[in-house]
Amino acid sequence: MVIKNQIVITGANGFVARHLRKYFSQNNIKLISIARKNFTKFKNETKIITKSYDEKTILPKIKNSQALIHLVGTGNQTVETNYELVNTEYTKHIVNLCKKARIKKIIYASGLGVSANTPLAYFISKYKAERSIVSSGIDYTIFRPSYIVGKDDLFTKFLKKQIKIGKIEIPGSGLYSIQPIFINDVVQIFLQSLTNKKFHNKILDLVGPEEITFEKYVKLFSKGTKTKIKKINLETAYYDAITNPKSNFGVDDLNILIGNFKGNHKILRKISKLDFYSVIELLKSGSLL
Ligand SMILES: NC(=O)c1ccc[n+]([C@@H]2O[C@H](COP(=O)([O-])OP(=O)(O)OC[C@H]3O[C@@H](n4cnc5c(N)ncnc54)[C@H](OP(=O)(O)O)[C@@H]3O)[C@@H](O)[C@H]2O)c1
Repeated sequence: MVIKNQIVITGANGFVARHLRKYFSQNNIKLISIARKNFTKFKNETKIITKSYDEKTILPKIKNSQALIHLVGTGNQTVETNYELVNTEYTKHIVNLCKKARIKKIIYASGLGVSANTPLAYFISKYKAERSIVSSGIDYTIFRPSYIVGKDDLFTKFLKKQIKIGKIEIPGSGLYSIQPIFINDVVQIFLQSLTNKKFHNKILDLVGPEEITFEKYVKLFSKGTKTKIKKINLETAYYDAITNPKSNFGVDDLNILIGNFKGNHKILRKISKLDFYSVIELLKSGSLL
């Protein structure tokens, strides 16, 4: 499959979408990008601004697009918005729109740790979203990412903020690991998944080549700065997450960290043949700071 028609991207203001839109635009791919709030367009890009992603606004504009990349998602719940609504129901709605618009491929960012027997509400909502895509009959590639890192993802921005105040807090031992993947690799993988048949109807872990403990990650990230690293009791961290909506870590941020989820990088490497960045080397060179 070559890229002849436009590609639709939802959640266009988000971190992954911003990088993807820029990369696709640089590769002369026509885009229709959808978000709730206004944003600056790239070359070859048409934007749709809609608060509710309603069919009337979207459907006529996305008809016969080549593929849709669904990047709407949330990792926080409030009284107004919850996982079921944003992660599951929005995905069902988007799948429906894809059917009506005769879009032949959906790409979705789920989460590392999602499975049929997960007890976590966040993962359950993503699992249900995955099922609605798989059962749609439309060709799909579902990615389950670990931490996607760049200079402007939420996690990196959070660490930079802590460095400014001189102290980074680590919940618990810090010995649980993450498998970060660099955003520049992620955009290439997404592009490949549009055209490479090996990505056809696959659920793939979107993880980098290295597992790294949270403690080591934080130490490397703040290397050369005068930042104190302090381990905080896990009970204290959860208490803060449960009682303070502005806490550094939300309940599910902690669940995901402590869950110590591991992904299969080898499969991703095998089908993409990409020479992945080492996030450890990026940290050592200070290029994420
Ligand atoms: N980045 C990672 O490390 C990572 C890891 C695992 C999974 N993922 C998944 O990958 C996807 C993209 O991640 P990201 O880092 O780019 O996330 P992000 O920066 O938080 O972007 C998420 C997007 O979802 C949209 N959104 C949130 N709530 C919405 C709602 N109620 N209605 C409509 N749109 C809503 C946001 O729109 P507005 O801009 O209008 O607010 C935003 O554009 C998400 O599904 C995320 O769960 C990311």
